[in-house]
Amino acid sequence: MTRRVAILLSGSGSNMVALVESMTGDHPARPCLVVANSAGAGGLAKAADRGIATAMVDHRPFKGDRPAFEAALHEVISAARPDILCLAGFMRVLTEGFVSRWQGRMLNTHPSLLPKYRGLHTHARALAAGEAMHGCTVHEVTPALDDGPILGQAQVPIEPGDTPDRLAARVLAQEHRLYPAVLRRFAAGDRTPVFLS
Ligand code: GAR
Repeated sequence: MTRRVAILLSGSGSNMVALVESMTGDHPARPCLVVANSAGAGGLAKAADRGIATAMVDHRPFKGDRPAFEAALHEVISAARPDILCLAGFMRVLTEGFVSRWQGRMLNTHPSLLPKYRGLHTHARALAAGEAMHGCTVHEVTPALDDGPILGQAQVPIEPGDTPDRLAARVLAQEHRLYPAVLRRFAAGDRTPVFLS
């Protein structure tokens, strides 16, 4: 049975594009919806250009009431009947209430080798710490921020003279390989982690 995938984003949507472009041929899943929390998210136009249904749930009118924002988000997502939710640069923290409704069916990509560098500014923090290796992680989403079972990691060596931007670009390129590889496995019911280097 083909699995239906909804993708949530806040930004340019390059990971969304990588996921969508992977879901062809004998892939066990297909995209059913792309949702953003801001009309300014560049990923919305990229999804529409690819013929995918899009929706926008602006978080700003719900300021101070995260559960109300998430209720609106849940309604929009549920209407598309996804089997799997992929967070792809979705920059809103989700409450335990929302996460528990999708637990075991929700993936996230994070730009660090978790459990190192949860949260923001991961590239600058890895550089400041003098790391030799950085990378990205795809994991199942649990209520704790940037936590949950690891489904894949890709390593990115730190180079002399790296800046956060240069490093971020190389990590992003690896996310575009890793996330589709993990989704393909996950959609087929296989949670064995994918490790890329
Ligand atoms: C990606 O690097 C993703 O890991 C990061 O945002 C970027 C989105 O890029 N997500 C987080 O930091 C979430 N904590 P994209 O919009 O081009 O896919």
